[in-house]
Amino acid sequence: MTQSASEPVAFKKDTVLVIFGASGDLAKKETFPALFGLYSEGALDPSTKIICYARSNITVQKIREMCLPYCRKSTTGNDEAKMKEFFKMVSYVQGAYDTDDGYIRLRDEIESFEAERGVTEPHRVFYLAVPPSIFLTVAGQVKKNVYAENGITRVIVEKPFGDDLESSREMQKGFKPLFRPEEIFKIDHFLGKDDVRRLLTVRFANPFLNQSWNKDNIESVQVWFKEPFGAEGRGGFFDSTGIIRDVMQNHLLQILTLATMEEPVANNADAIRDAKVDLLKCMEPLGPENIVALGQYGRSVDGTKPSYLDDDTVLNKKSKCLTFTELTFAIHNDRWEGVPIVMRAGKGLDEDRVEIRIKYKKNTSGMFKGCTPNEFVIHFHPKPTIYMTFNTKAPGFDDKLHQINLDMTYAQEYKKDWVPEAYECLIKDAFLGNSANYVRDDELDVSWALFTPLLKYVEGPNAPEPEIYPYGSTGPKGILE
Ligand SMILES: NC(=O)c1ccc[n+]([C@@H]2O[C@H](COP(=O)([O-])OP(=O)(O)OC[C@H]3O[C@@H](n4cnc5c(N)ncnc54)[C@H](OP(=O)(O)O)[C@@H]3O)[C@@H](O)[C@H]2O)c1
Ligand SMILES: *[C@@H]1O[C@H](CO)[C@@H](O)[C@H](O)[C@H]1NC(C)=O
Ligand SMILES: *[C@@H]1O[C@H](CO)[C@@H](O)[C@H](O)[C@H]1NC(C)=O
Ligand SMILES: *[C@@H]1O[C@H](CO)[C@@H](O)[C@H](O)[C@H]1NC(C)=O
Repeated sequence: MTQSASEPVAFKKDTVLVIFGASGDLAKKETFPALFGLYSEGALDPSTKIICYARSNITVQKIREMCLPYCRKSTTGNDEAKMKEFFKMVSYVQGAYDTDDGYIRLRDEIESFEAERGVTEPHRVFYLAVPPSIFLTVAGQVKKNVYAENGITRVIVEKPFGDDLESSREMQKGFKPLFRPEEIFKIDHFLGKDDVRRLLTVRFANPFLNQSWNKDNIESVQVWFKEPFGAEGRGGFFDSTGIIRDVMQNHLLQILTLATMEEPVANNADAIRDAKVDLLKCMEPLGPENIVALGQYGRSVDGTKPSYLDDDTVLNKKSKCLTFTELTFAIHNDRWEGVPIVMRAGKGLDEDRVEIRIKYKKNTSGMFKGCTPNEFVIHFHPKPTIYMTFNTKAPGFDDKLHQINLDMTYAQEYKKDWVPEAYECLIKDAFLGNSANYVRDDELDVSWALFTPLLKYVEGPNAPEPEIYPYGSTGPKGILE
């Protein structure tokens, strides 16, 4: 790979960004805070025009109030003044998603901006922050009414991308006649996290790691996602989703893929995603034999936290919805044959953490045989950290072994630096046309092909009963160490 972190693409001045569903939850919590973050750190060109689109009768002022609590402090201060300047770039168009008239007003707004700036080759980015049920409606209208015929069009889409292989393919089929693959940017926001983006660098820019990163040295690879809260208030969404679709098929599989794939032949979007797809093809579709534990949280031991089924927003009181799943599977290639890959995720647990743990083998001979094996650990959340457990001699006269961590906590290492948030990275990438950290359709296909048989089993007529574990505990009994 070359030295640069991403492809050098020139930023286009006078870009228009349209946010559909700008009145919604995602826009207020992620999209606007990210845009303001980019702006206040000097990473969003001030010639950019941001147009909000939604049905609600609201104003830019209202959107500003809604997103304010979610905006981070900038590293350079003076945020109030910057906020004021930033919102001068923003306007609002009210309209329906399924009829032409709103889009025609949107086109007028876009075209008058471009005319004023003398733009001859428009660059328009459309962000679909709307429910998936209307993705294709909006996409169709964008193509019909506001597509940049003589310029560049980019469409950013949020998950979910279907809920199994078939529906994912169906959605791809809907987009196909509208946009070319390079015009579509499908977000998995884990791929925007700075520490996830660092995985390839850490693995391949440190040859000693790369050289030991295989079945000869590694005992197992484990990915853990733990949330200390349940589905409170979001039961309607969660009951039809479940933990597997919510985080495993997408976010955790992405982390795992980056941690186990071969080195891409080049540092560009296609080479990176080719290497991911190659890796995913070395796994077999998941089924009952890959299940270690299935769980649903019950009431907390002290009775203060409700069980999943106690939640008012969970309507099906017999729901077998999984809030915990542990799987183990194999990667059939030279590097990983025989190494167990363990993936676990749970809500209502004792901790808030996302991590990957590369467990090295124990040495069974030599002077320190049996000493605690090394582990290479990356915490993605809540505090980005990389550390390696390391054996040394304890201080003093004897030679007792002592285990310490070689620790790289980012907050300490990069105190003064601005570390962009996931959505800041992703939006910046979309502006630059760099899709390395967006999900390609063939990647979606293989990941759904892996998980669909498992989902059919755990949601089918012979679905096993999930084990009930107490809210706030470590999860079901019998999970692997
Ligand atoms: N919220 C998150 O943190 C999050 C995280 C990951 C992915 N996502 C994805 O991001 C997208 C947007 O999520 P969101 O949470 O922002 O959704 P949302 O708040 O439910 O919807 C966004 C906007 O879309 C319009 N809308 C809602 N329901 C509609 C319907 N049935 N028909 C037509 N318009 C409707 C509403 O605007 P108007 O009524 O004003 O038009 C609403 O303000 C979804 O695809 C979601 O899966 C969200
Ligand atoms: C939109 O809101 C404004 C101010 O809140 C109000 O004056 C106006 O009548 C509303 N328009 C519609 C069509 O509801
Ligand atoms: C990583 O290891 C593989 C296999 O040992 C080797 O072929 C490759 O050249 C190594 N790459 C780097 C950057 O060290
Ligand atoms: C264990 O140590 C011995 C002697 O130091 C060495 O020959 C062997 O390769 C080591 N095994 C592993 C798995 O590191």
